[in-house]
Amino acid sequence: MNIAKRKFDTLVIGAGGAGLRAALQLSAADVKVAVVSKVFPTRSHTVAAQGGMNAALGNVTADNWHWHMYDTVKGSDYLGDQDAIEYMCRAAPETVIELEHYGVPFSRLENGRIYQRPFGGQSQDFGGDQAARTCAAADRTGHAMLHSLYQQNIKAKTHFFDEFFAIDLLKNERGDILGALAIDIESNEKILIEAKTTLIATGGAGRLFRSNTNASINTGDGMAMALRAGIPLQDMEFFQFHPTGIAGKGMLITEGVRGEGGYLVNCDGERFMERYAPHAKDLASRDVVSRAIAIEIREGRGCGANKDHVLLKLDHLGSDVIKKRLPGIRDTSMTFLGIDPIEEAIPIFPTAHYTMGGIPSNRFGQVVVPVGTDAEEVIPGLYAAGEGACASVHGANRLGGSSLLDIVVFGRAAGNHIIDYLKANPHHKDLPEDCTVSILKRMERWEKNSAATTQLYTVPQLKAELQLVMEENCGVFRTQDVLEKGVNAVKAIKEKLTNAYISDYSSVFNTARIEALELENLVEIGLATVISALARKESRGAHSRMDFEKRDDVNWMKHSLYFMKDNRLTYKPVRTKAMTVATFPPKERVY
Ligand code: FUM
Repeated sequence: MNIAKRKFDTLVIGAGGAGLRAALQLSAADVKVAVVSKVFPTRSHTVAAQGGMNAALGNVTADNWHWHMYDTVKGSDYLGDQDAIEYMCRAAPETVIELEHYGVPFSRLENGRIYQRPFGGQSQDFGGDQAARTCAAADRTGHAMLHSLYQQNIKAKTHFFDEFFAIDLLKNERGDILGALAIDIESNEKILIEAKTTLIATGGAGRLFRSNTNASINTGDGMAMALRAGIPLQDMEFFQFHPTGIAGKGMLITEGVRGEGGYLVNCDGERFMERYAPHAKDLASRDVVSRAIAIEIREGRGCGANKDHVLLKLDHLGSDVIKKRLPGIRDTSMTFLGIDPIEEAIPIFPTAHYTMGGIPSNRFGQVVVPVGTDAEEVIPGLYAAGEGACASVHGANRLGGSSLLDIVVFGRAAGNHIIDYLKANPHHKDLPEDCTVSILKRMERWEKNSAATTQLYTVPQLKAELQLVMEENCGVFRTQDVLEKGVNAVKAIKEKLTNAYISDYSSVFNTARIEALELENLVEIGLATVISALARKESRGAHSRMDFEKRDDVNWMKHSLYFMKDNRLTYKPVRTKAMTVATFPPKERVY
C-alpha cells in the first residue's frame, strides 16, 4: 500500500493543554514539531475545564507551594509520587504567570491580581483553614487557556494535522517508538509520521461510562496505543467521579460553585456534608463528597420523585456573583434543565470525570516501564503528559483544579526534556519495512466485517453496552462480585468486537470509522480498569471497596501496572521520597 510519509523531530499526539504546552516549548526552540489532533485543536477537551488551575500565589489567602504539596499528597490518599508532586506544586506559580503572559484572561481581584477561589481539599498551614488556591477565568478557565495556547502555537509556527486520527505507534524490534500511523478523517487517507521523539497527550477515557462530563472524543486513544505497543498502564482502578454532574445527564457543574459558597442538600433540606466532613464540609475532596451523595441516596434521602439525586443550592449567592463568576454553569443549567440557578437549586449526581491512571511517566514526561522484577527504565524518545499519563501526581484521588495544572507543568517539562534529548540524539532511527503490518490488518478486519453479509454487532450498540457495564460494575462503590461481573462482561464485549461492523462504512461519513477504532481503544481501557479494580483489595481514594472498607498501607501502598498481554498485573512502590523536603507519611485522611 502506498502511504504518504512525513518526517518531524517530534510528533505530539493530542492538541489539548498538555500537547499544546509541549509543542509551544518545542517550536519556540526551533524543533520541527507536528501536532496530530482528531478534532480542531480548540475543540480539545481542555476547553471544557471550568473552575480553574491550582497554584499557591497567595492572592486571596496566605499560601505556599509546600502547603499545596501537603494537600495534594493527602488528596491522593498517599498514592501520589511525592517527588513529582513537589515538582508540580513548586512549578505552579510560574506556569500561571507564563499563561498570563501568553494572554490567558484570568478573572481579577479589585487590586488587579489574579482571582483565586477555594476548591476542595485545599488548606493553609498543612491542614488548617481553607485556602483559596484555584486561579480562574470565571468558570471557563480551560477555554481561555486552550485558546491562548493555540494562538501562541500558531505564532510559533507549530505544524498541525487537524482532524487526523492517530491509529497506532510505530516501533522497531528494540521497542523504540518512531512515530505513528494516522488517518486523515475527511479523506480516509493514511499518513505515516516518522519522528525522533513522540509525545502522547491524548487525554482521558471518561467516555467509558454512560454518565460522564467528558467530550465524545475522550476515548483513551493514546493509552490504548501504549497498551498495544506493550507498555503497561498504571493505577487504572482509580477513576474519579465528580460529585456534581447534572443528574441523569452528566454535564459538569463546576466545584467552583461550592468554592463560591454553594452547598449540597438532601430531601430534608439538610446540608448533609456537615456530617461527612465537619471541617471542610462541601469542600472536602471529590471522592469523599461523591461517596456522601451516593450514601444519602442509597439511604433514602435523595430528592425528586425517584429520590435519585441531591440538590446543589446557590440561589443565596445572588445574581451578581453568579453572573460574574459562574456564567457558564448558569448557561448549562438553563440549557439542559431549564433551571436558572439564580432562583432554583440544581439537581446533581456524581458522574465519571477523570482518569487518574494512565501511561507511567516521570516528572520529565518520559515513559517509564518495568524491567525484571523490581527495576524500571525509560523508553528513549517516548513521552506522555496530561490525563493520559500517570506522573503520578494525583494518586488515588485528584484534587479539583489540579488537572489544568498537571497539563501545563508536565507539558512544559516534557517539551524541555525533548529539546535536550534531541541535542544528544539528532538522527532518525531506521523504520522497519513491516512496522505498519499489524495496524493495517486491524483496519482490514473492519473493512471485511462491514462488507460481510452476516453482520452481528454495530459499533454504537457495543459502545452503549460497554458504558452501561462500566457504570453498573465499576462505579463509586465496588465489590468483588460486581467487579467480577464487570471483568467478564467487558471480556465478552471484546469478543463481540471481532464480529462488529460499521453500518455506514461505504458512505462518506468517515467519523463512523473513527468511532470503531475509538471503541477498540475504550474496550482495552475498560478491561484495564475493571481488572485493576478487582485486584486491589482495599479502599483508597476513588477506589471504594465495600468488602474491603479500610485503606491497607501494609499491602497496598503500591502502584498497579496492567499489561494487555494476558491481562497481567504487576506492582511497583510509591515514590514516597520528595525532591528536597521531608516525606509526608500516610495518616488517616479526614476533612
Ligand atoms: O469542577 C471543576 O471545575 C473541575 C475542575 C477539575 O476537574 O479540575
